[in-house]
Amino acid sequence: MTGVADGTANARSRDIRRYDEVSSTNEVAAALGRQGAPEGLVVTAEHQTAGRGRRGRRWQAPPGTSLLVSVLLRPAPERGYAHLATLAMALAAAEACADLAGVCARLKWPNDVVVGERKVGGVLGEATTGAVVVGAGLNVNWGAQAPPPPGASLDELVGHPVDRRALLDALLAHLDPHLAAPRDQLLADYRAASATLGRRVTVGLWAGTVVGEAVDLTAEGHLVVDDGQRRRVITMGDVVHARLEGSDA
Ligand code: BTN
Repeated sequence: MTGVADGTANARSRDIRRYDEVSSTNEVAAALGRQGAPEGLVVTAEHQTAGRGRRGRRWQAPPGTSLLVSVLLRPAPERGYAHLATLAMALAAAEACADLAGVCARLKWPNDVVVGERKVGGVLGEATTGAVVVGAGLNVNWGAQAPPPPGASLDELVGHPVDRRALLDALLAHLDPHLAAPRDQLLADYRAASATLGRRVTVGLWAGTVVGEAVDLTAEGHLVVDDGQRRRVITMGDVVHARLEGSDA
């Protein structure tokens, strides 16, 4: 890990550790958690050398182009909390993008932040010893080196650079109320921001695929897909939206 953790606090006196380069902000937040760091600790970095994505994938971005942030949460042990916290982070990330870039950011289940069909960010929640870490990666100022489609960077979409510090502040401000909300409220907010519900989808599972209409979320935040014969509950998978009629996307 290079760089200095400056330990500055934002307007809400939150402990924010800012690094130049780390392996993964999720990994650093988890390590600090194991050393006793308190609930709410935030880790950000300009660059990750081993950024982690969903389902064991890598999350890569050139230095200085992205908002890379992880938050340490210390929930009371409750099964499924990591998934719900991930949905809360995805919602907060989408709302921050709307605030700072003025885009209509929505959520592709479970935790992709999309503008139209283009992915501007992703969220990864991981349970660790006595804590949950939720991390978000948002493509913010990629300049001429835009992420490969269907990825997109906010600056490309809006035609000017976006303030990453302000984006972080907005994300953190939105995150707390979603984490504190009753589960029903969180799920209602997520449904309202969903780009997936009501769409025909193909879901890639570890083995096989499910094709059908995304009709609902369960109380655990899992996706319900009606395949024409029965309702299937998807706990984990890669969703592809069918093209909307009359759309170029
Ligand atoms: C996805 O696969 O879409 C989720 C990507 C999550 C990436 C973020 S970047 C900050 C945090 N640290 C990581 O190693 N991963 C998450």
